[in-house]
Formats: sequence, C-alpha cells, structure tokens
Amino acid sequence: MTPLAVLEPGGSAATALYIVSFVLFILGLKQGTHPTTAKRGNMIAAVGMAVAVVTTLLLDGMGNWGLIIIGLAAGSAIGAYASIKVKMTEMPQMVALYNGVGGGAVALIAWSEIRHGISFGEMPLEDLIPTLFAAIVGSVSFWGSNIAFAKLQEVIPTRPMAVPGQQFINAILGVGVIVVAIIIAINNEPPSQALFILILIAAAILGNLVVLPIGGADMPVVISLLNAFTGLSAAAAGFALQNVALIVAGTLVGSSGTILTMEMATAMNRSVSNILFSGFGGAPAAAAGSGEQRPVTSIGAQDAAIKLAYADTVVIVPGYGLAVAQAQHAVKEMANQLEKRGVTVNYAIHPVAGRMPGHMNVLLAEADVPYEQLKEMEEINPEMSRTDVAVVIGANDVTNPAAKNDPNSPIAGMPIIEVSEAGEVIVIKRSLSTGFAGIDNDLFYEPNTSMLFADAKAAATEIAAEIENL
Ligand code: TAP
Repeated sequence: MTPLAVLEPGGSAATALYIVSFVLFILGLKQGTHPTTAKRGNMIAAVGMAVAVVTTLLLDGMGNWGLIIIGLAAGSAIGAYASIKVKMTEMPQMVALYNGVGGGAVALIAWSEIRHGISFGEMPLEDLIPTLFAAIVGSVSFWGSNIAFAKLQEVIPTRPMAVPGQQFINAILGVGVIVVAIIIAINNEPPSQALFILILIAAAILGNLVVLPIGGADMPVVISLLNAFTGLSAAAAGFALQNVALIVAGTLVGSSGTILTMEMATAMNRSVSNILFSGFGGAPAAAAGSGEQRPVTSIGAQDAAIKLAYADTVVIVPGYGLAVAQAQHAVKEMANQLEKRGVTVNYAIHPVAGRMPGHMNVLLAEADVPYEQLKEMEEINPEMSRTDVAVVIGANDVTNPAAKNDPNSPIAGMPIIEVSEAGEVIVIKRSLSTGFAGIDNDLFYEPNTSMLFADAKAAATEIAAEIENL
C-alpha cells in the first residue's frame, strides 16, 4: 500500500466521489449548451475531472508515483501552454490532437492490461473482450485523429487521398483485426502479446486509411466521430479496469460525440457514410460550378454603407469567409455604427456556417457581439421578409437557394438562411467562386442582390468608416 492509498477500489467512499464527478460532468455538459453558460460549464466539468483524477490517485494499489508526477506535470504544462497559444481558428485541429491522445492512452492501457493478464497466466473473458475492443478502437482513433490534425494544420495535403481498392483494403483490415481478436480470446492461456501488437498495428493502418481519403473541410464531422470512438474505447477500458468513472465519462463522450456527428451531418443534409466514403469536401473547386457567365450587380463600400445606414433592420449572415478574413471585430464596428443611427442589427447563425460547430458563435463572441443578437436559423428565417437589408459576409453554401430548388444539387435539402426574402441583399466576398460544396450560387444573380467584391475585413472596415462619415 502506498502512503496516499486512502480509498479502497470499489469501496463506498471512492464510488461516492466518482458519483460527484459524474454529476459535475453532466452539469457541465448541460451548461455547455448555451453560449452564456458555456464557460462556466467547462469549469464545472474540469472540476469533475479533477475529482475523478484525485479519487483515482488515492485508490489503494496506485503504483509508480515518480512516473505519475512526471505525466501530470507534462500533461498540465502542454495543456496550459496550448490553451493560451492556440488561436480560435485552430480549435478543430487542437480537438483532433487531444482526442487522438485520449485514444492512444486507451490503447496503451489495454496493452498494459494484456501484460498483466500474461503475468497471471490468463485473463477473465469479461476483462479480455473489453480490453481488445479498447485497443482496436483506441488505436483507430489515435491514428485517425493524427491524420485529421495533420490535414487541418496543412502538414499534409488537405485534399482527399485514396489508393485504388481503398474500401476493399479497409474491409480486409477491419475483418482481419476482429478475427485476430477472436483468436486471442480463444487461446487465452495466456493472451498472446505478439498477436495483440499485430492488432494494434493493423488498427493503426486502418485509422490512417479511413481518414486519408476524406477532404480537409469534412474533418470537423470526422473529428466528432473519432471523438465518439475515443469515448467508447475509454468506456471499454473502464470495464476492463473495473473503473466506474472511466465507464461513465467514456459513455458520456461516446454518446455526445455521436449526437454531435449526427446533428452536423443532418444540418449539412448528408449521411455520415457519405461524408466518410464519398471524398466530397476536398479542396474547393477553383471555378464556379456551371462556368456560365451571368451578369451580377456589383457595388462599392460607399453604396453599401448608404443602403445599410438608411435601413431600419439589418441582418448579418456570417460564413466561413468571415473566419478566414478574421473580420469579426470589423463587422462588430460596422454594426456599432449602424446601431448609433438607430438601425436594428441581428446576426443569422446557420448550424454549419464555417467549418466547425459553433464557429460563428465563437468568432462573434470574441468580438463581444451580444448573445441576444445571435439568431438561430429557425428564429431568423420568419423575420427575413421584414428585413430591409441582409448582408452576407463570407458565406456562400448556407445561403444557396439550390438547396431548396435543385433536387440534384449536392446540398439539396439542406436548410438555408432565406436571405432572398429580405428587401435587399449585399454579398461581401472576393469573387464569384464557390464555397465548400463547390457549386454556383444563384443568389448572386438575383435582382435584389448586390455583390461587394472584397476581403470581408477590409470591406466591413471601409463600410463602417463610410457610415460614420455620412
Ligand atoms: P462556404 O460555402 O464554404 O463559403 C465561404 C465563402 O467565403 C467562399 O465562397 C469564399 O468566396 C468566401 N471567402 C473566403 N475568404 C474570404 C475573405 N477573406 N473575405 C471574404 N470572403 C471570403 O461557407 P459557408 O456559407 O459558411 O458554408 C459552410 C460550408 O461548410 C457548408 O457547405 C457546410 O456544409 C460545410 N461544413 C461545415 C461544417 C461545420 S460544422 N460548420 C463542417 C464541415 C463542412 P471568395 O473566395 O469569392 O471570397
């Protein structure tokens, strides 16, 4: 027994402390569902995690304190450094990296359990089966998440990369891993370490091959799916270690990751299998979909400022280009100028605008846009016909009427922000080129649409200055 071993594993004190940690996790998740309480939710969940970690460290049987302290110090230092340094726009790749680390840790725990099993001569099947599951899924998640990180960080090309017969190779690897796991479980006296390492390697190759063919822009959905995988593998490791905290925390991550994946896919009107296997979502096409030349109405910042300044109601529709241009502060300044003149300004937030869940909320919150002005799509669409001017800033697909009008469009069925219903539409983007889905947008050619071809930040800054000078 170590000097700090004050809790008995499975005892009532440890269980009570673990229950406190789950309650904090669930409260944290609940508070995370609204921007005003999300920060507090994060803090509550972090306290829950601290309770779970400290409880585990106080369990009788905790071993090598030197290694534990080195691990805690290194992990805390890296986490603290990243939380200060990483930019908001780099959040998806940071989530990918952290998620991968979780999956990798689970795979290593599984390996350590197998080595325990070998030293005892045999592993009970109720421990061995979850251990093998945790190893396979954790390894897939670790390697898949690393590829997702590398694509988003542009360490490797973001376009889909596939080898011929890719799906067949993946299927062989997937089936092979399961067969070898069954062989290990059958010849369990003791479990074979060599075959276990073979499983880890095959799952690693599978993790790489599953994610490489997916386009960089589809990565947020894939990361959310891999996050769910890591949660499931952690829950399985919890069964093997008979650690109730790991089971509950893993299940929470697995279920919330699955729900988020499904919600994102639904909001894009695509199935998860389409995202995983179609290769759609690669680098955006260079030219507009149809290639046809149609006339558009083009305006400058001064004309845009006049239209906006003399409106009663303005709705700003932000999209991925706002994030690229980092235009949030300039847009807020433009809105301030309008509000000074008595114009009512709201923001229309499409669930998949940008490239990660809540992308626009996070950017606009950074610029101190009041939460009450952020209107979800269902709330703002009925208001569009009463809106004088809709300003689309760096958004494209989320306003594309083809989603409603063209059943053959790749985005057919995706709900959109109905900007055409507004009295006038101003679209700020640099050219007529396409967005993520690679398709032309009829909105640009409609009679009540004016195009302001410019970088979002430069345009918003210029419009704000023009309004101030009116
Ligand atoms: P997009 O359709 O991708 O369009 C963004 C537009 O921003 C581009 O057409 C681009 O046009 C413009 N742009 C780029 N840089 C700019 C800059 N510096 N200044 C001004 N404009 C700039 O964006 P969206 O409307 O936000 O739609 C999001 C898309 O991503 C959807 O198709 C969605 O399904 C997909 N997606 C979303 C998520 C999540 S969870 N949000 C995850 C994966 C995929 P120019 O080049 O002409 O400037």
